[in-house]
Amino acid sequence: MAKRLITTELIEEDKRIEGSLRPQLLQEYIGQEKAKGNLKVYIEAAKARGESLDHVLFFGPPGLGKTTLAGIIANEMGVNLKITAGPAIEKPGDMAAILNNLQEGDVLFIDEIHRLNRQVEELLYPAMEDFAIDIVIGKGATAKSIRLELPKFTLVGATTRAGMLTAPLRDRFGVVNRLEFYTVEELTQIIIRSAKVLQVEIDADGARELARRSRGTPRLANRLLKRVRDFAQIQYDNKITKEVADIALNYMEVDKLGLDQSDRDILRVMIERFHGGPVGIEAVATTLGEDPGTVEEVNEPFLVQNGLIIRTPRGRVVSELAYQHFGLPVPDKES
Ligand code: ADE
Repeated sequence: MAKRLITTELIEEDKRIEGSLRPQLLQEYIGQEKAKGNLKVYIEAAKARGESLDHVLFFGPPGLGKTTLAGIIANEMGVNLKITAGPAIEKPGDMAAILNNLQEGDVLFIDEIHRLNRQVEELLYPAMEDFAIDIVIGKGATAKSIRLELPKFTLVGATTRAGMLTAPLRDRFGVVNRLEFYTVEELTQIIIRSAKVLQVEIDADGARELARRSRGTPRLANRLLKRVRDFAQIQYDNKITKEVADIALNYMEVDKLGLDQSDRDILRVMIERFHGGPVGIEAVATTLGEDPGTVEEVNEPFLVQNGLIIRTPRGRVVSELAYQHFGLPVPDKES
């Protein structure tokens, strides 16, 4: 019994830390200057009018702050946040129940909104536009439709794949924000902030080394920070320096550019099996036994952003930088 209590406490503690690494207000949020600037204006204007905020869509690779920003919107507006995800809502009835339980002004966050099924998505159209849904009761000739008025809520949708959203759904969002990878400077600041929360000492060079190797992604930066902290705690006087970060990251097989094993596998397959491309992402994923969607959403954006893969109309091509990264000779260009 006592043991169980301790475990629960630890889980609670872990959740608390996880939560506290996320900024709660816009002014604590580092990076995404464009999205942040937009939201600040829209939130202030909606509050001044005493209205709910217009529906907001965030898109971009995973780990860049979509859920965090949904939480910040709710905090700044002083309303509740309800969180769900596209695949979790199976039937229109599930969606109707969620909507019906909202209070005036609440933020409903739907992660992976591109994965809503069609009937559920269609229920959202009138809900978003008119704050009402039509529910059919009964079957056949006696079936009748009743209109259910909803509170004025704010839908915050998140997707890694804006291209997979249907036009009618996309068009119903008043605010659309694309989230970008973070710069090394921004990630350095985030890591220093998180280290304070986690009560671990880190110097500027240590934070910068971690930032450089976090794939432009705060979620990864915080995850790596926690693991590097373990190394620091056990072997290095509880202090993260550049040297400690380097040893820990090498141990975790995160390389100098922040690439992990799956990134390197992708580049290697492109070089060794497809002569550096052009090649389709499907072929690369299939060769590796990976899901093409994951390769396209998770790995590719970072590899493209950092100039390791170039997208061409004929397919993806490995850049000279990628060959150099592996210490391989750059092949002569075919004419
Ligand atoms: N933790 C995770 N993401 C963050 C951000 N963008 N700013 C501050 N702390 C964060």
